[in-house]
Amino acid sequence: MIPKKPEIVDPAKYCDVDLPREKLEYALGEALKKIDMNLEPFAVLFPSHNSYNNVYKADKNTGGWNQGFWTGMLWHAYELTGNDDKYRNVALGQIPSYYKRIKEKLGVNHHDMGFLYTPSCVAAWKLDKNKQAKAAAIMAADHLITRYHPTAKFIQAWGDVNDVNSFRLIIDCLLNIPLLYWASEVTGDPKYDEMAYNHFNTTADVILRPDASTHHTYYFDPATGKPLKGVTAQGFSNDSAWSRGQAWGIYGPMLTYMYKHNDKAMEMFRATTNYFLNHLPDDYIAYWDLCFTDGDEPRDSSAAAIAVCGIIEGVKHMDDSDPDKRIYQNAIKHIMNSLIDNYLTKDIPESNGLLLHAVYSKPHNGGVDECNIWGDYFYMEALHRLLDPDWHPYW
Ligand code: GLY
Repeated sequence: MIPKKPEIVDPAKYCDVDLPREKLEYALGEALKKIDMNLEPFAVLFPSHNSYNNVYKADKNTGGWNQGFWTGMLWHAYELTGNDDKYRNVALGQIPSYYKRIKEKLGVNHHDMGFLYTPSCVAAWKLDKNKQAKAAAIMAADHLITRYHPTAKFIQAWGDVNDVNSFRLIIDCLLNIPLLYWASEVTGDPKYDEMAYNHFNTTADVILRPDASTHHTYYFDPATGKPLKGVTAQGFSNDSAWSRGQAWGIYGPMLTYMYKHNDKAMEMFRATTNYFLNHLPDDYIAYWDLCFTDGDEPRDSSAAAIAVCGIIEGVKHMDDSDPDKRIYQNAIKHIMNSLIDNYLTKDIPESNGLLLHAVYSKPHNGGVDECNIWGDYFYMEALHRLLDPDWHPYW
């Protein structure tokens, strides 16, 4: 059961505001300057998960979950510039590394196949009919379903699939399952879709608390498949709502909704969105955990960018008579205005990131108050969605 959505406690906070097209175009211009800086250093190598003093280091495509975001940014840049081939050429040049990685199973003992293969290879297939990209993405989908547990009907996030102590799902995986919906569409084999949809329903059943805040991860009993308990990995505490997790819980359901048009996904989206909007500080950019609403804790601008993408998708499916629709439209504008006005790296010439003030993992002291590459990716996607409401998602 999805809890009833909380009401917006301060509707005046989401009052009408302008976000003119010229401002979005200016923001795109600034983003493209940074992407252009990265075309040469990150043609063969990839930006690290997070920056160090606002500068990404170079990584290989052999581990982690971050590479797809940079390739995806190149596809956004390609489309947003009216198909400038300089972006396409770098993106296509990276496809063999994705193919090799999944073929040779390099650093793929985890569930993040969607993050890696959707913005990179599925996009390359959708935009360019690149056959190697399609083959790589289908192999990634085949690999992802090896982590599916039929007893409990979920995809295990981390660790060895036979390790009983790793028998848990995490909210982030809602962004990995669109790879499976897509795989069923292109192969005609329903098995990917069934597992993805089961995973969505299992997640939706356990991951929300009665107040519509979300757990980060949820453990199950390996013998019976029964849900056990919610535990955080990157949030402040087991009782709090990690901001990026809540943002995955806003966008994730809408990605399932795009394929399934199911009421449960829409209900989950509304509940998680309202909780998120009720816990934003004055500048509309969440702290790293939603238990903080003022003070000196670091912000997570990446959570803001992810949530905006989800809310943009959500309002596409809401009636004009729906009172929440106006609030959501205004929330998008307030958050984007804040990101564009106060979170860009434009005044830091050495920075090769797009958005300042994100957090990778505060409990692990990793990437705190830095750029991160998924924040940059979802910010680009948000600009794309706002500049071209007819954009066809890579997801
Ligand atoms: N999916 C991992 C994270 O959001 O940090």
